[in-house]
Amino acid sequence: MSSIESEERAAADSSAAAIHRRYRRDAAFRAPEWNATLDLLLGHRSIRAFRDRALPAGTLELLIAAAQSAPTSSNLQSWSVVVVSDPQARASIAEWSGNQKHVVEAPLFLVFLADLARAERVAAAAGGEATTLDLIEPVVVGIVDAALAAQNAVVAAESIGLGTVYIGALRNRIEDVAALLGLPPRVVPVFGLAVGHPDPSVASGVKPRLSQRVVLHHDHYAPPADEAALVADYDAALKAFQVEQNLPPVDWSYLSSKRVTDLASLAGRQRLRAALEKLGLPLR
Ligand SMILES: Cc1cc2nc3c(=O)[nH]c(=O)nc-3n(C[C@H](O)[C@H](O)[C@H](O)COP(=O)(O)O)c2cc1C
Repeated sequence: MSSIESEERAAADSSAAAIHRRYRRDAAFRAPEWNATLDLLLGHRSIRAFRDRALPAGTLELLIAAAQSAPTSSNLQSWSVVVVSDPQARASIAEWSGNQKHVVEAPLFLVFLADLARAERVAAAAGGEATTLDLIEPVVVGIVDAALAAQNAVVAAESIGLGTVYIGALRNRIEDVAALLGLPPRVVPVFGLAVGHPDPSVASGVKPRLSQRVVLHHDHYAPPADEAALVADYDAALKAFQVEQNLPPVDWSYLSSKRVTDLASLAGRQRLRAALEKLGLPLR
């Protein structure tokens, strides 16, 4: 076998292994290319246990540069981020987020914000009145921008051996978080992001995902006829994953159904619309 052939074979093996890890089944397709970026993306896992070790100088700025390199709607850059270092503030956010200890333990904790106040200030400086900011559209733009920026930071962190976990649960108490961080009207927390060196003594595997056939449509939205069977397969795969991670074996369909049938499962986030209105975003 030539060296090119053996490189191609190795890439095919790596891609098949990564795809198998993600779906817990053999790939139904051949990856036309394989590289370190794809390996990183398909190997993503959230990390909720961190070593007690500071991040090297420059890490924060590197992650923010990656975040700022994300696409942003109309180049408006409608997001900001707060580094929360104060231990008391971290403790409050951890408690409000359902006692998530990694919020306190991570060496770096960021809160990503949809920030429409900056555009308002810029417009005011130019003598304009920001009359569109009561609409839903700019809020969607700010939330999407914040999410894209944060995900770039996540990929950058993972590329240098760090682990991360998003903390959407801080929206349980979004107004309290906004007050804690001193946010002005029209700036709202979207989620937190804990970043640190993964604790190698705590298992962290690649969590399987739904079959591509469940999420991928061509031309028209058409759930597959065997969607229920594919979801049942996924329930089994996720349960196996949970057992391997020493977590309670749960059905994905149970969890996902609970979220859409039980208001209390939103843990406070069911009041988000009213909270956003109080934070200066009436969503008309
Ligand atoms: C917007 C967002 C909010 C999330 N909030 C939380 C959270 O509050 N706590 C937590 O432990 N994980 C949180 N997660 C992580 C998800 O639970 C995780 O991504 C999902 O279970 C898939 O697992 P994986 O990231 O390991 O592949 C959040 C993820 C996203 C994208």
